Amino acid sequence: MRVLLTGHQGYLGTVMAPVLAAAGHEVVGLDAGLFADCVLGPPPADAPGQRVDLRDVTAEHVAGVDAVIHLAALSNDPLGSLAPELTYDINHHASVRLARLARDAGVRRFLYASTCSVYGAAGGGGLVAEDAPLRPVTPYAESKVRVEDDLHVLADGDFSPVFMRNATAFGYSPRLRADIVLNNLVGHALLTGEVLVLSDGTPWRPLVHAADIARAFTAALTAPREAVHDQAFNIGSEINNVTVAEIAEQVAEAVPGAKVVITAETGADPRSYRVDFSRFRAAIPGFDCEWTVKRGALELADAYRKHGLTREDFEQRFTRLAVLRAASDTGAVDDTLRWRR
Ligand SMILES: NC(=O)c1ccc[n+]([C@@H]2O[C@H](COP(=O)([O-])OP(=O)(O)OC[C@H]3O[C@@H](n4cnc5c(N)ncnc54)[C@H](O)[C@@H]3O)[C@@H](O)[C@H]2O)c1
Repeated sequence: MRVLLTGHQGYLGTVMAPVLAAAGHEVVGLDAGLFADCVLGPPPADAPGQRVDLRDVTAEHVAGVDAVIHLAALSNDPLGSLAPELTYDINHHASVRLARLARDAGVRRFLYASTCSVYGAAGGGGLVAEDAPLRPVTPYAESKVRVEDDLHVLADGDFSPVFMRNATAFGYSPRLRADIVLNNLVGHALLTGEVLVLSDGTPWRPLVHAADIARAFTAALTAPREAVHDQAFNIGSEINNVTVAEIAEQVAEAVPGAKVVITAETGADPRSYRVDFSRFRAAIPGFDCEWTVKRGALELADAYRKHGLTREDFEQRFTRLAVLRAASDTGAVDDTLRWRR
């Protein structure tokens, strides 16, 4: 398949592009490149792609494409809260426009990177399946719900949107992120000797490795239409339904000498949910996640040591909010996060 991969220069896109290529697909990238330089280790060999803002996409960008994998977004809760209107412009309106253009161009499958954050304040009781009520608690999560709603209306006999509700990602990517929980805790532990938990450690955080997300999308791309058409899927594994305190314990085991410190200073976190991932396994027989939290913590600790993670990189280069603030302060981007040059 010829696959348009938006966000190919992001944390997940940088891992997914080679997995798609290895499965025999032709990958064409599209990304504004907001974090293109946030690299830990050797620079990745990006798929051929264009530096285009999602808000400027035209019919030309989807011409001749068999499928779209849409990852590009302002991609986490703190970013969304920084600029809610921008989050809705980019994550919601521009995504729906892209989907319409894709449908008009005859693209048959559209894999949308949604999130388990759509369940928001679901509570820590039973497992949350795809038909649970959606209770987003941030503009980021709300933007994902709105896209799912609008793409569902576009679904027809020729156009199959698929809503991939990823758990929170972890693991090494050449374009690293330190603002997601496991990557953050491992980095902090290595740099300071403390596994620092600012919440009280009780919230549930379903996790999934970036490489398992890449494998899930690759499988969904070629699955029989009836198995995935217009459906939502939680992407992850029940064994990685863990509390923040449990994640911290795994990190302490992966980083010898590190001590868990739970400060509870951020108070109660309403985002807490345990997730049922069985629908995707039923749709894609044989699929399961390969990575545990423990193995991911060891992988990250090795990568951080090997590539010489510094405190400055950890706090600036690999923290998306800091990267965007710096780009704005230096005038590299305008107040709508468009490049000035
Ligand atoms: N990483 C996670 O834990 C996680 C979990 C659930 C869902 N997701 C979703 O998966 C997708 C990819 O996440 P990620 O972790 O790789 O995020 P990321 O921030 O690393 O990458 C997002 C990419 O989108 C690009 N982008 C942002 N605004 C753009 C615009 N206006 N035009 C063009 N490109 C733009 C950025 O330059 C970046 O390369 C996102 O949609 C995210 O919401 C991620």
